[in-house]
Amino acid sequence: MLAMNKFRILGTTAIVIAASIVFTSCKDKRSTGWEYAPNMYEHTAYDPDQPNKNFKDGKTAQVPPAGTTPIGFRRFDFPNSREGYDNASASYHLDSLIAQTPGHLAEGKKLFTTFCSPCHGLTGQGDGLVVQHGYPAPPSYSTGQSSRGGAMKDLTDGKIYHTITYGVNSMGSYASQIAPDDRLKIVMYVHQLQKL
Ligand code: HEC
Repeated sequence: MLAMNKFRILGTTAIVIAASIVFTSCKDKRSTGWEYAPNMYEHTAYDPDQPNKNFKDGKTAQVPPAGTTPIGFRRFDFPNSREGYDNASASYHLDSLIAQTPGHLAEGKKLFTTFCSPCHGLTGQGDGLVVQHGYPAPPSYSTGQSSRGGAMKDLTDGKIYHTITYGVNSMGSYASQIAPDDRLKIVMYVHQLQKL
């Protein structure tokens, strides 16, 4: 009899504790409740949008100092203009920027298939899927003429890189989607398609 009572008291106590945890955790809707290992959420580093008295302007997110290059980024100091296009053509060359290996070419092919083939077609003939649905056809890399003059097959490293970076007419810029090194690999693959 006494043993039964003991279990009942223990059971009731457990239920009361459980219920009070459930109710108190729901009281404040904005509260995260009981946090396990809180330093996983409340870290000591500043969040980019947090005020920060270590900087003059009081912000954590700082604009990089002029002339700096983010790690892993490659500068392309040619503006989005006809002059920038021509200057890139004259002085932006793959040789000094990336090793022209079969591995890089294979990656270039993969990237081209993803980003460019919907318009340019898998073999660069300007017959991609969206063109078949009415999008203006880009000129063929091997037999077409560039709208900026000259044959497509003669487009240089710099001209192709400039086009991926800024786009041209109805082709948009891919600067925000394709990292600089990946653009170089795509240029390698476009050169292959120019020879078809
Ligand atoms: C939305 C369709 C579309 C996509 C996607 C696209 N292009 Fe184009 N591209 C065009 C069109 C259209 C032109 C012709 C524009 C013109 O000269 O008026 C063109 C032109 C070009 C030219 C010729 C530039 C010149 O100087 O004449 C190159 C090189 C080129 N594209 C490369 C690429 C590469 C590389 C990709 C993938 C990263 C790509 N394009 C993705 C539509 C596209």
